[in-house]
Amino acid sequence: MPKVFIKTYGCQMNERDSEQVARMFTEGGYTVTGDESDADAILVNTCSVRDQAEQKAIGKMTHMARHRARKPHVVYGFMGCMAQSRGAELFQNVPHLDVVVGTQKYHKVFEYVDGILSKRLERRMDELELSMTGESVCDIEEEEGSQNTIRDHVTENINPSSFVSIMQGCNMKCSYCIVPDTRGKERGRPISDIVEEVKKLRDRGVVEVTLLGQIVNLYGRTEFDKIDGKSPFVQLLEQVSDVDGIERIRFTSPHPIGYRDDLVAAFTYLPKLCSHIHFPMQSGSDTILRAMRRPYKNEKFVEICEKMKAARPDMAITTDIIVGFPGETEQDFQDTVDTVKRLQFDNAFVFRYSPRRNTPAAEMENQLPESVKEERNQALLSVVNEIAIRKNDALVGTEQEILCTGASKNNKETLSGRTSQNKIVIFNGDHDRMTGKIFPVKVEESTGFTLYGTPVIH
Ligand code: SAH
Ligand code: SF4
Ligand code: F3S
Repeated sequence: MPKVFIKTYGCQMNERDSEQVARMFTEGGYTVTGDESDADAILVNTCSVRDQAEQKAIGKMTHMARHRARKPHVVYGFMGCMAQSRGAELFQNVPHLDVVVGTQKYHKVFEYVDGILSKRLERRMDELELSMTGESVCDIEEEEGSQNTIRDHVTENINPSSFVSIMQGCNMKCSYCIVPDTRGKERGRPISDIVEEVKKLRDRGVVEVTLLGQIVNLYGRTEFDKIDGKSPFVQLLEQVSDVDGIERIRFTSPHPIGYRDDLVAAFTYLPKLCSHIHFPMQSGSDTILRAMRRPYKNEKFVEICEKMKAARPDMAITTDIIVGFPGETEQDFQDTVDTVKRLQFDNAFVFRYSPRRNTPAAEMENQLPESVKEERNQALLSVVNEIAIRKNDALVGTEQEILCTGASKNNKETLSGRTSQNKIVIFNGDHDRMTGKIFPVKVEESTGFTLYGTPVIH
């Protein structure tokens, strides 16, 4: 049985896409291996959002060429956002590359890779020289309806908390962002298909779903109507909530544009919605938000956060922030720091601005030196961390409902779970009996970012 190894960089959407690809390989008779040296096909699902992400994927792919010495038939492929953005030029960067497949063609990866691998294996049986010429495939075309092809899940070791992609693409034009280029126009899947997928997951023991999209709250705005003042996204949340057996619902990422009162209200009458949103702010300065082409003001962002906390008093909010955007002054940066302090985020990803190809911000004149970006990154991180640590420490002594997702990443002897606020708790217990279950845990210790506790039996 041939083996495929898949390495994924980038966002949760990419993880979900990789899962779809893995499923197609297992259906085609392959096994998925976690050991690249053992694989017959090696795939890297790539991200382009920052230069560092691209460099990592290229570095990894280059390094993995060493397996060809022992196994010359191995097929190498790039898929995802960098594949979409760079296309065939990647064959120049990585000479042993065979396949480049874009973000609207994940459902074709198996066919391309298996086609090349079968030919190579046949030739090896005939003891003919392996010739690599004329075999490579590059497919980065757009495809109508491709959002509907990300719908199957792996059958083995399914996570009790699963991702469901509800839409693809983005119609915004944030001046720094490559995603609209790599993911194409906004396209939503029908509500009925999504609910069907959620029910199938439920039948296999999944209790928590995270709905994925670049701007989830705008889901379906071009395809479906509002009903009773409710956006298609809120309609979707209601229908997913009606699926018995699904106990928790999350989504990522929402955007201030179109974050209306119907969505805020959903948190008051849909108890399955978890008390956490990841809500990217990007900057606390109106000047920078304008230059970023983020069509809201800081005050509007703050107002939505406050409404969310009023709807759900225990609401945890995490965010994304870019520092060192072209033209960002000390004062602009200070406005960001002030907003972080004001909103008391539970955590934040802080990114140094990275110029991306074909984006307006990359052409702006007032680019900042790396040293300034780095300095602001460190300064902001220390503010973010201090708040995050304080909030986690405050949970010591409380009881939290957690969903146990199985062995913890760092110590397989212990179990890991997440609270409704999305905080990780580590504890001891019976793996088989507790995985996939929701139960209370008494939090006993905090190391700042991780909580440790003991399951409570009432
Ligand atoms: N659709 C989401 C963001 C997806 S990209 C949204 O609009 O909220 C994930 C994060 O990467 C962004 O929130 C942003 O903070 C960061 N990012 C995007 N482009 C970047 C760039 N050129 N440099 C640094 N960070 C970037
Ligand atoms: Fe990028 Fe902006 Fe779209 Fe988010 S909303 S994916 S940051 S263009
Ligand atoms: Fe990266 Fe593409 Fe996601 S650029 S962040 S993998 S949508």
